[in-house]
Amino acid sequence: MDQRLNTPQDQAGRTCPMDYRYRPQDIAAAPTLPALQGLDALWVVGGLYGNREALDAVLAAYRDDPSPRKALVFNGDFHWFDAEPDWFADIQAEVDRHLATRGNVETELAREAIGAAGCGCAYPDDVGDDTVAYSNRIIERLHAVVPADVRRRLAALPRFLRAEVGGVGVAIVHGDAHSLAGWGFSRDALQHEAARQDAGLACDAAAVRIFASSHTCMPVVSDLGAGRWVINNGAAGLPNATGALHGLCTRIATTAPTGASQCHHDAPLHLSLQPVHYAVTQWWQRFERSWPPGSDAFNSYAGRIRCGPDS
Ligand SMILES: [Fe+2]
Repeated sequence: MDQRLNTPQDQAGRTCPMDYRYRPQDIAAAPTLPALQGLDALWVVGGLYGNREALDAVLAAYRDDPSPRKALVFNGDFHWFDAEPDWFADIQAEVDRHLATRGNVETELAREAIGAAGCGCAYPDDVGDDTVAYSNRIIERLHAVVPADVRRRLAALPRFLRAEVGGVGVAIVHGDAHSLAGWGFSRDALQHEAARQDAGLACDAAAVRIFASSHTCMPVVSDLGAGRWVINNGAAGLPNATGALHGLCTRIATTAPTGASQCHHDAPLHLSLQPVHYAVTQWWQRFERSWPPGSDAFNSYAGRIRCGPDS
């Protein structure tokens, strides 16, 4: 997937490449894979960011779900900090055992070289230039460890999937209803009635009741009315609230969850954010070995990993 992107270099990390874009109608037209039909429980894991300890935790929680027919989907950005060959391969091997969609990270890793889109995060203006620059350099370093055969496999991953849980249609995306890296399902955006109305219309156009997303790194569950929802897990591999050093993932199921951080019941479904209780010290040691003080990931993420986000 070597595409020339007409993106000015100083916009790297700020823009949304054309090949990220799709329409809700494209989601409506997509088939539902047999493995995602007739589910009792769907787990959606976004933003693992190479956190090996979080991967262990989420797989253990998923294994403990007694639902008779269940599936787990990694909806993008499962790679990020894993910029060492063995670590990267380890994450990829586990993801390969499940279904996955591409995030902006995997989409950029799938290119033969990192292009003018940089990390592909399409950061909005309220994210500082330093953060964008760190991300653009992290993706460059990560790209160097990706074998060619894995690059091709990442390129072949879909940008979205459809699932059916308890007879209800669910769209699994990384960003929003229009783009792999869209911010339309961010916590900030969904505070506004206009954005919720747009999301509701997108549900209708995509022929689903629920969008399960990630990408914006902060969790939100938004009731769009008429049985329609957006559920954004924030990040499975990073803390999502100040002082709460665990990740979150999404569970959509016909049965009530156990241990949920947040749960909403809209018959016949329970939509919940499930805590991902990983080994915090072990994860920090792994992170710091690869990204010591002064490195781009340390500069950008050490505070969140150790203390959680500011808000
Ligand atoms: Fe992302």
